Amino acid sequence: MTLLDKIRQRSAVVGVVGLGYVGLPLAVLQAKVGFRVFGFDEVRQKVDRVNGADNYISDVDDADLREVVKNKRLTATSDFSIFKDCDIVLICVPTPLTRNKEPDITAILKVTRKLAEYAHPDMLVVLESTTYPGTTDEVMMPILTANGLKVGTNLFMAFSPERVDPGNSSFKTHNTFKLVGGVTPACLSVAQAFYEQSIVKIFPLSSSRVAEMAKVFENVFRSVNIALVNELAMLCDRMKINVYEVIDAAATKNFGFMAFYPGPGVGGHCIPLDPYYLAWKSKEYDVHARFIELAGEINEGMPYYVVAKFQRVLNRYGRCLNGAKVLVLGVTYKADVGDPRETPALKVMELLQHEGTNLTYADPFVPSLTLGERSYQGVALNQDILQKSDAVLILTAHSAFDYDHIVRHAKVIFDTRNATRNVKGGKDNVVLL
Ligand SMILES: NC(=O)c1ccc[n+]([C@@H]2O[C@H](COP(=O)([O-])OP(=O)(O)OC[C@H]3O[C@@H](n4cnc5c(N)ncnc54)[C@H](O)[C@@H]3O)[C@@H](O)[C@H]2O)c1
Repeated sequence: MTLLDKIRQRSAVVGVVGLGYVGLPLAVLQAKVGFRVFGFDEVRQKVDRVNGADNYISDVDDADLREVVKNKRLTATSDFSIFKDCDIVLICVPTPLTRNKEPDITAILKVTRKLAEYAHPDMLVVLESTTYPGTTDEVMMPILTANGLKVGTNLFMAFSPERVDPGNSSFKTHNTFKLVGGVTPACLSVAQAFYEQSIVKIFPLSSSRVAEMAKVFENVFRSVNIALVNELAMLCDRMKINVYEVIDAAATKNFGFMAFYPGPGVGGHCIPLDPYYLAWKSKEYDVHARFIELAGEINEGMPYYVVAKFQRVLNRYGRCLNGAKVLVLGVTYKADVGDPRETPALKVMELLQHEGTNLTYADPFVPSLTLGERSYQGVALNQDILQKSDAVLILTAHSAFDYDHIVRHAKVIFDTRNATRNVKGGKDNVVLL
């Protein structure tokens, strides 16, 4: 039976490497549509939790995980020799930056080298991790073909970026449109046939490089537009114009405008990192990706701007940063998700800690956190803590917070997310970004 037949009959065995925010929902989806799935992770604890149907990713439905583990459609393992039993391998490992903001593709390399030991004819390998154009064909292909496999003939390789938006209740893995770029046309046919089994709409592309570039461009687009609106917010602050009213006004145009909102910076595993992958690669072609660098500079400067403006806010109330009792609301990188990676809130807190501010925080998703030498336990948000604080600093607008209650009881609120926009009545104690 050919690989294409196995895919169409859903009898192909699928391996998903990296059981994180991207990999676990993908593994559960493949198991749900009927494939036999092995989930690989080097962290033993994650493997055990998956096998115990103990869900740790909010985008995965508990009942779905229980079902696919119980009926043995999904099994997690750290034993990479099981690659030999897989017909399809989907790679969803992290792609961070080094300290100097250069791509760190160590995890991709490690998995590819391991996979090369077990790769066999009639295998499809798809990279889903976000990376720079060229990773699939320039970096992975030579490693996977070293033992004589031939891409497009008996080994099929593609790049298909994950576009998951954590916490998005409308768009999940199965209904987020998917790009697929094969290294060769035959690779594309196999990869497209595979994703068509589980995802509502597939857009085939002419190469893996186009797919890699498209994914990183999507994130550059967000980074640049967020930086633009952050710069506008700083200008509006000087000009004493409400930036949110400006954005809402511009958004009334019925074509050609897309609203982005300012904030204390960018976070998560995508926007702060991925654009630098392209900036790094572009230098190989004598191109300096200036928009990317500029956007990074503005977005990374936002925590410093927040602290400087907060200082002015406190000053107005006869307080200074040093010694002020400040209650921070929300520390994850975006509202209603529990992911604290690259969150600008921690940077703001670190800067305030350095100024001697007396910090407490509340976040329903984060029970405790560590900043340098200090550890903090999250507090319950109630009238008493609001009244005892000199100021409240909203850094992440979780919907679990009762903003009417916060505005009613806090002395002063610096709201960097416009989280208090729907609060009716007197808001003299609220200062916006
Ligand atoms: N989180 C998102 O919203 C999102 C969205 C789209 C794309 N992406 C991209 O998807 C990729 C994965 O991101 P994520 O958020 O799922 O990361 P994650 O850290 O949540 O998960 C990655 C998993 O890979 C495992 N891992 C690391 N090295 C490994 C190895 N050598 N062998 C086996 N397992 C290994 C880790 O233990 C972890 O469980 C990244 O490239 C990211 O940019 C993420």
